[in-house]
Amino acid sequence: MEWKNVLTDLFKTDYPIIQAPMLGVTTPEMVAAASNAGALGSLALGDLPAEKCIELIRATRRLTDKPFAVNIFVHKIDPITPNLEADYVKTKKHLQKLTEKLGIETDFPDIKEIKLTDYHDQIEAVLLENCKIVSFTFGNLDQESIATFKENKVILIGTCTSVQEAIVLENSGIDIICVQGIEAGGHRGSFLEETIPQIGGLSLLSQVTEAVNIPVIYGGGIYNAKTLLASKTLGADGFQIGSLFLGSAESALQDFEKHRLRNIKENEIVLTRSFTGRYARGIRNTFIKEIENSEFVLPYPYQNKLTAELRKTAKLEQNADFVSIWMGQSITSFSDVSTEIIIRNLVEETENFG
Ligand SMILES: Cc1cc2nc3c(=O)[nH]c(=O)nc-3n(C[C@H](O)[C@H](O)[C@H](O)COP(=O)(O)O)c2cc1C
Repeated sequence: MEWKNVLTDLFKTDYPIIQAPMLGVTTPEMVAAASNAGALGSLALGDLPAEKCIELIRATRRLTDKPFAVNIFVHKIDPITPNLEADYVKTKKHLQKLTEKLGIETDFPDIKEIKLTDYHDQIEAVLLENCKIVSFTFGNLDQESIATFKENKVILIGTCTSVQEAIVLENSGIDIICVQGIEAGGHRGSFLEETIPQIGGLSLLSQVTEAVNIPVIYGGGIYNAKTLLASKTLGADGFQIGSLFLGSAESALQDFEKHRLRNIKENEIVLTRSFTGRYARGIRNTFIKEIENSEFVLPYPYQNKLTAELRKTAKLEQNADFVSIWMGQSITSFSDVSTEIIIRNLVEETENFG
């Protein structure tokens, strides 16, 4: 197995394996462990404020001198219109009643209290900290930001969930495409159509590699040598892996969440908008059952902000009925060893495969 390729050259890593950014799960320790194993760690910065981004980048640098990527959410924010405000009030009231009925005490913010992050502030922070590999999801960067990154010699990785999105990213000058199969855990990176594409990894990866001429990373369902090699056969240059690390020593998930993962049944893994307003794949629970097909789902990021405190309270109370546990379709033992060992084992298994 020859690991060296266009991506190991660009990233300066031993392997074209990428530890997926996972907001809420990824820690500086996980990123450093992945990079120290010769893969590319990815620090999830989501929509965190710029100061927090800087703190996390510096914490990671204290743990590794190897390259790692940072990852941000690039999304349009709907302005607060009277209609949105009315929907917000209605949804908040409903959630208050629901949580009272189900016995969890929490606060829901007013729409005026919500703090939204503009990704341009994060870009400034990332450039100040001299980060050289930036991945993003939920949208495409504007041309000015792309130009600024290029001037600073930053490698850009954009996420697609359809061939159309891949072409848009390539045409706007993004260096590498991360193809997200429907198997993937966490949020869908879809950004072109209101109705999101739900294309399986097999179909999507094969079609994207035929449609674009830039390097392609695949993410969604990779959990062992077989799945990694299957995506290589379909044309992937890099392998982005998330769920495999959910139970690892460096994961920010709590023990009750890891326990839930390790007892998962296949029919409990669902795509849902109920927690954040954007589709994400995770574990069905009481909150999802109550909200999913209701009128009480606001557009992202408003639903996300509205439910944030509830999820925080549920985590503190170790109440799996109200936390969002994101995971992909490949069920594993969710090993509790270090991310570094999980990666080294995967590399060895792949080298010895067949
Ligand atoms: C818990 C969790 C959180 C995630 N958060 C992010 C994120 O912050 N940014 C991002 O680009 N992708 C995120 N993803 C998606 C991953 O980047 C990747 O597409 C996915 O993990 C690959 O599929 P797999 O989970 O089957 O390995 C997340 C995935 C999970 C499981």
